[in-house]
Amino acid sequence: MRVGIIGSGSMGHAHARAWRALGVDFGIYSRDAPRAAQLAAEHGGDTYPDLGTLLADVTLADVCLPTFLHRETVEAAARAGRHVVCEKPLALSNEDAAAMVAACEAAGVRLFVAMVVRFFPQYRFARDLVQAGRIGTPRVLRLRRVSSPPYGGHSWFADETKSGGMILDLMLHDIDYALWTAGDVQQVYARETRVGTRHYAQAALTHVSGALSLIESGWAYPDGLFRTAIDLAGSSGLIEWNSDAAPTIRIVHGKQRHATPGVSLPVISAAADPFVLQFNHVLDALQREVPFDVTPGEALGALRVALAVRDSARSGRAVTLEAAT
Ligand SMILES: NC(=O)c1ccc[n+]([C@@H]2O[C@H](COP(=O)([O-])OP(=O)(O)OC[C@H]3O[C@@H](n4cnc5c(N)ncnc54)[C@H](O)[C@@H]3O)[C@@H](O)[C@H]2O)c1
Repeated sequence: MRVGIIGSGSMGHAHARAWRALGVDFGIYSRDAPRAAQLAAEHGGDTYPDLGTLLADVTLADVCLPTFLHRETVEAAARAGRHVVCEKPLALSNEDAAAMVAACEAAGVRLFVAMVVRFFPQYRFARDLVQAGRIGTPRVLRLRRVSSPPYGGHSWFADETKSGGMILDLMLHDIDYALWTAGDVQQVYARETRVGTRHYAQAALTHVSGALSLIESGWAYPDGLFRTAIDLAGSSGLIEWNSDAAPTIRIVHGKQRHATPGVSLPVISAAADPFVLQFNHVLDALQREVPFDVTPGEALGALRVALAVRDSARSGRAVTLEAAT
């Protein structure tokens, strides 16, 4: 097994560390060759001079590029006959995403979309409790995820034609979690607000089951803050967790002088690094030839709902989703 990581930014780094922790050999190709060399040296991998050389040499291509480059890169990997891990969101449109899934199927290669939130132990545990009936029938899911704008709001992330914007990039995690936990969604309604590079949105998702998900997301905090929370209420119980472990009041004030050097990530425990858990699952599912926990169909479903939420936030109107075909 040899992994070819494509891209050496915040995800290239997190993935290199995780593959290494699992003892998997890897090489990196990135347009930023010095950074790729640095990551390779730090985590015991090597580098490739271009995408073609990487694809000719690896078992699995791990796409950690800006979202607008996902489609062409995943399709090139599929043509080369390589299994694919692709960072979320899979693509910027339903059409691109469906074409990527079809290309992998046609080439007979496996596609895993890296919805890492499913591998955060607290999120997985809470969902397992729901599935086991511990809160009865799920009725209201409240999910929160707010960070500072990636790279201080000055990178490709800020260009919605390249990243899809905050709803596709960040809220997608909780949309996927809501679908995974409470099933298909039939209608969404969202509101958003923007101040400079900061963008905040709230979405209400009505599930076919009758459950309601209320999702709050933003690239809206000052640098260095990343808060996540879940609050799952069912007919006979409640599960709560939030990332603010310290029961104190934190005061953040003043103008931020420095942009965050990269993308903020939630606090990660070394004992249970979700990126390691995620790739451990990928290795296991490949070896046992069983479906991934995030199926391509689920990744398409999450993107479809995220695009509907973004449409609703832009228009101010509720959007009804057609039943998935
Ligand atoms: N799972 C998560 O929690 C999470 C967090 C952040 C980002 N992401 C996703 O991961 C993907 C990558 O995000 P990132 O934060 O690593 O971005 P980044 O900007 O930090 O890194 C992008 C990397 O791609 C390289 N690159 C850009 N264009 C290239 C090209 N044409 N050829 C080769 N290399 C090129 C850049 O040099 C850089 O190394 C995005 O889809 C993003 O939405 C996921």
